[in-house]
Amino acid sequence: MNPVFDTTRTDTQTDHVGRLMDAMEATQDATARAAKDTMLTPRFYTTDFKAMDAIDVSPVRAEWDKLMAEYESDNNQDHFKRDAAFAEEFKVLLPQLSPELRQEFEDFLISSCTSEFSGCILYNEIRKKVNNPDIKQLMAYMARDESRHAGFINQSLKDFDLGINLGALRKNKAYTFFKPKYIFYATYLSEKIGYARYITIFRQLERHPDKRFHPIFRWFERWCNDEFRHGESFALIMRAQPHLLKGVNKLWIRFFILAVYATMYVRDHTRPMLHEAMGFKSTEYDYAVFRITSDICRQVFPVEVDIDHPVFRRCMDRLLAISLENDKARARGGVVGALQRAGCGVRAFFTFARLYTLPVIKRELPKEIRMAPVW
Ligand SMILES: [Fe+2]
Ligand SMILES: [Fe+2]
Repeated sequence: MNPVFDTTRTDTQTDHVGRLMDAMEATQDATARAAKDTMLTPRFYTTDFKAMDAIDVSPVRAEWDKLMAEYESDNNQDHFKRDAAFAEEFKVLLPQLSPELRQEFEDFLISSCTSEFSGCILYNEIRKKVNNPDIKQLMAYMARDESRHAGFINQSLKDFDLGINLGALRKNKAYTFFKPKYIFYATYLSEKIGYARYITIFRQLERHPDKRFHPIFRWFERWCNDEFRHGESFALIMRAQPHLLKGVNKLWIRFFILAVYATMYVRDHTRPMLHEAMGFKSTEYDYAVFRITSDICRQVFPVEVDIDHPVFRRCMDRLLAISLENDKARARGGVVGALQRAGCGVRAFFTFARLYTLPVIKRELPKEIRMAPVW
């Protein structure tokens, strides 16, 4: 008999079904939250697969082959498994999470899982659609890693009854088309910023173990080395095509750096409690991440934004204030809300334009492309 219609079921069974239905709703809710596209949520991408197929990595062959050997040795093969201590630690720490911190942490997990899965889908699509053996092999390795990462976070979401239905997300989320060169700039940055974010958290909690409010943070050190390596792959791809790093493309690079930094700054400041629980202020955390990312990007980007420029800092804060006003206007709704949102859009545009016109620091590209994750 279908247990839902079993009239003889006990209260305990009713509770069980109720909990199951709550969990299903929570999963749908988490999947819907992950599928939602706003300026601040991670997106899914698609690209020109023919152009991807034509990439020639022979100018960086020696470094490329070394990198492929690293992927092949797969030193994180056994890493993304939860040990017995994980469950124990989670049981002890869960009751200590305030509802507000729990909410921010859940958002962090959903957005991180979506972003890991976004990489997994893109790399896997490229793998399937190209014949070029170098690119096919690289994409297979990176999709392997990202699928482990997304799966590992999703397990933690399930602890909160919030597991994302990744199959449904793949089907339902909108895909943004990016030309390969934009994929290289954006994905390189997001891999390196991902490394910088994870290592900054890991080092902070290494110094302050009492602030480690969830066991997943113990996994971040070896995890971020995967992200670092993914970034190295895109650095080699771009250095193999030097025209991507010259002339008008320098303007695109500047645009992507600023867009990625600004998005991260605004999004992170919507989770102040999360950073406070780790002993950070959001601003301090973000500038630590910007600094590491900017240092790394010197391997490939001939321009660097000046994160210490007072106007840069002012514009970041202004974008944050505009985003908060925009949220209020959205909540208000109606004609007034719509007008206010339009005003926010115009002001955000001019603030970003101001950021864009700031002088950049010019960098000579180093002879040796590869870097080590030493932070
Ligand atoms: Fe990842
Ligand atoms: Fe990655």
